[in-house]
Amino acid sequence: MTELYFQRHRRLRQNAAMRALVKETYLQKEDLIYPLFIIEGENIKNPVSSMPGVFQLSLDNLAAEIDEIVDLGIRAVLLFGIPEEKDAVGTGAFHDHGIVQKATRLIKERHPELLVVADTCLCEFTDHGHCGVIEGEQVLNDPSLDVLARTAVSQAKAGADIIAPSNMMDGFVTAIRAGLDAAGFQHIPIMSYAVKYASSYYGPFREAAEGAPQFGDRKTYQMDPSNRMEAIREATSDVEEGADFLIVKPALAYLDIIRDVKNSFPLPVVAYNVSGEYSMVKAAAQNGWIDEKAVVLETLLGMKRAGSDLIITYHAKDVCRWLEEK
Ligand code: PBG
Ligand code: ZN
Repeated sequence: MTELYFQRHRRLRQNAAMRALVKETYLQKEDLIYPLFIIEGENIKNPVSSMPGVFQLSLDNLAAEIDEIVDLGIRAVLLFGIPEEKDAVGTGAFHDHGIVQKATRLIKERHPELLVVADTCLCEFTDHGHCGVIEGEQVLNDPSLDVLARTAVSQAKAGADIIAPSNMMDGFVTAIRAGLDAAGFQHIPIMSYAVKYASSYYGPFREAAEGAPQFGDRKTYQMDPSNRMEAIREATSDVEEGADFLIVKPALAYLDIIRDVKNSFPLPVVAYNVSGEYSMVKAAAQNGWIDEKAVVLETLLGMKRAGSDLIITYHAKDVCRWLEEK
């Protein structure tokens, strides 16, 4: 009788110890960056209705929040600001006493070891809600660069450890790098939103950050979800311009892009697990349809397996708690 030959893959799965030996991908606290929404005013802790567990916080509520974040083992936060007043150029973005600048100072004073990543964009600060300055209904590229560079410099002055420009104007890394260097911030890295698609998954974020465009959409500056080659073009220019980290955003529907970017550039890749991805999981969990912990850990592990070194996620605090349990 001829002997049947086949691979016995189950040999390496037979018990927990064996499985641990051959585990290829790990999710750890150090991988996580937690976004915060800071709002002007006092004693504010506004729940974001489409993002259960996420709040807009005023500065007086920030201290307790970051104490908790540090206790949980999170190493970095990403700051978004909601100003009192908005105008056409987004003055609040680069004001020395802007909301992000004030929050940054407070955090660095209280927990100098917690890394502050400042989101550098104008949409939360402009009355029209676009990420650059406008003329009529056009979002202007080059005039936006000066404003973005000023914003980055003011964030660095306030103590931001990393500058994360999300505006998708061409040349923003060059402009911001030049601005930072000229102001003496050569040591501050740029975590570029290199590959950012015009995605419907940002819906809940626009409620949280109050930064929805007042007319049109962001398709003339954010990318078409159909395109894969274009991601390499976008990331290539950011690398050439001096980016230190590359963000791919959103994450879940773009895992192929995360892998492409990881394979193409020797830089840390950051997946942004965006608001809509978070809200979908939360909604299903609240309905009792999925096991939240298991689904979140599997999803984030998938992003790491796809090639992301770091993950920006609203689940970060829960993940830290869950990783402790195991
Ligand atoms: C603004 C910005 C957006 C997000 C991060 N920065 C929204 C947008 O571009 O419309 C989305 C984050 C999320 O959905 O969690 N430049
Ligand atoms: Zn923006």
